[in-house]
Amino acid sequence: MTQVVLSETHGKVGLIRINRPEAMNALNNDVVDGIGSAIDAFEADAEIGCMVITGNDKAFAAGADIGFMKDFDYMHAYQSDFITRNWERVKTARKPVIAAVAGFALGGGCELAMMCDMIFAADSAKFGQPEIKLGTLPGAGGTQRLPRAIGKAKAMDLCLSGRFMDAAEAEKSGLVARVIAADQLLEETLKAAQTIAAYSLPVVMMIKESINRAFESSLNEGLLFERRVFHASFALADQKEGMAAFVDKRKPEFKNR
Ligand code: CAA
Repeated sequence: MTQVVLSETHGKVGLIRINRPEAMNALNNDVVDGIGSAIDAFEADAEIGCMVITGNDKAFAAGADIGFMKDFDYMHAYQSDFITRNWERVKTARKPVIAAVAGFALGGGCELAMMCDMIFAADSAKFGQPEIKLGTLPGAGGTQRLPRAIGKAKAMDLCLSGRFMDAAEAEKSGLVARVIAADQLLEETLKAAQTIAAYSLPVVMMIKESINRAFESSLNEGLLFERRVFHASFALADQKEGMAAFVDKRKPEFKNR
């Protein structure tokens, strides 16, 4: 049987590939559970400092698997806790996760990308929340994360029209951190992930946690959280090493403590 999720390591980076090319990487339980298991393994692996989720040239993921869910009734969706049960593992990852998106990231695929900490897009990428065309709505965070990323006007436009947004528009709107030529996407994303993974992991995690706090709290609460975590960083051997190395004009050797 084909493995619908492949995982491999590249130095200190864990790479997760969605592998259902025949279905534009549509997300069914096997795919979502596979992504969750891969994240579990990379989170537990002390050698890994950053993760990348990607698809193939044509699709990151074209959404939740429509055939899989089309006959759900309300009680099934509710009782099986559809989406919440297994889709949100990426949200709880403490190590950073980069989505490397080429081709379609639609519906649940766009939502999965937005659950990641940042999106690097190939110039071929197309983002959209076309659920309205199916008689439903985004159900994996699209109505909440998209306005936070690109503002209300564009989020309304995308979710109500069902139109797709190309990589240039996505970058201009703030959805995407970098746009990269399609044939360089994976290489460049892995390079960026290697850079992150070479830093002190506890510091990386503190930065991620602090930025995410910006979306969960008032400015004052967020600033207080940041300040406390910043103060806490002075307890790290890696802070001593990082600053000593700067003063000594040498490369720091971080030990993740
Ligand atoms: N679910 C299941 N199968 C899908 C799929 C999906 N979301 N998207 C594509 N596929 C399948 C197609 O059915 C087709 O399979 P067959 O070859 O067996 O017919 C195969 O992938 C290739 O797709 P197309 O022939 O349609 O390829 P295309 O290049 O003409 O179009 C596309 C590509 C624009 C992505 C088009 O497939 C499409 O519109 N897909 C659906 C996108 C969508 O509506 N996504 C939202 C899903 S709902 C959701 O995600 C809810 C949520 O918030 C959690």
